Amino acid sequence: MSATIINGKQIATQLNNETAREVAGLARDYNFQPGLAVVLIGDNPASQVYVGMKVRKCRELGIYSEQHILPEKTSQQELLQLITKLNRESIIHGILVQFPLPAHIDQEAVVAAINPGKDVDCFHPENVGKMLIGKQDGFFPCTPYGVLVLLERSGINPRGKHAVIIGRSNIVGKPLLALLIQKTAGANATVTCVHSGTTDPTTITRQADILIAAIGRPEFVTADMVKPGAVIIDVGINRITDSVAAKGYRLVGDVQFDEVANKASMITPVPGGVGPMTIAMLMQNTLKAAKFSRDLRTL
Ligand code: GUN
Repeated sequence: MSATIINGKQIATQLNNETAREVAGLARDYNFQPGLAVVLIGDNPASQVYVGMKVRKCRELGIYSEQHILPEKTSQQELLQLITKLNRESIIHGILVQFPLPAHIDQEAVVAAINPGKDVDCFHPENVGKMLIGKQDGFFPCTPYGVLVLLERSGINPRGKHAVIIGRSNIVGKPLLALLIQKTAGANATVTCVHSGTTDPTTITRQADILIAAIGRPEFVTADMVKPGAVIIDVGINRITDSVAAKGYRLVGDVQFDEVANKASMITPVPGGVGPMTIAMLMQNTLKAAKFSRDLRTL
């Protein structure tokens, strides 16, 4: 393997330490504690794990958190009533409704009900619009924001580089496109997005200085799709069956790690790459929402 590993776990720990210091400062100077409400509907095992990780991280950093775990059969109206209540609660600065939601609940209606000032996921159209036009007083969605910070703290400046994103999801691909094209420090890249409708994606991915895989297909990116010396960011977290593993499965990314690591200059591992950054950025967004609510804003 010739590529340098980008250690997301270590960078996320640095960020979390910074968040914890600021949270402690708010308690000391203002007797004020940021708060996050996490809502989970149903019993999707992966979602249960993610929600548990988010709540634990809040506790570690001194952020107040509450979990609202509701049964699968919860109606849309009941969920909207809970969101309305959380929107009004002064101790709650961030609201996160874990996706996916059960099929009978309209995801867009749920997102639209969240107070944009508490929308720490940056899923509300108001915040998505602010991000697109380059305003700093909304939020950036946690995973794309985590990718930007990971690049920055690994000494990779996207300015003038060709960044190719594989995948066009609303949670990762599209917001990454919006963030990386901004004329700001840490961005300013030339960005291409390849997706299921792209004719000959390999010709495009081979031109990438920075290749970001976010399609949720295990080990989709192979060495022949990569330019020698490229930086590879793997957003995928996929469970694949592995009879040798204790749990009967193991986690792999969207990138065929071993062969791509022989060709790339830098690469994120799975796990331990983008994943820890997503939670670190959620903590940062919760802190930002809390400071905004008290008008302690530092843009
Ligand atoms: N499900 C998968 N990723 C996310 C995320 O970033 N936020 C929420 N709320 N749900 C998710």
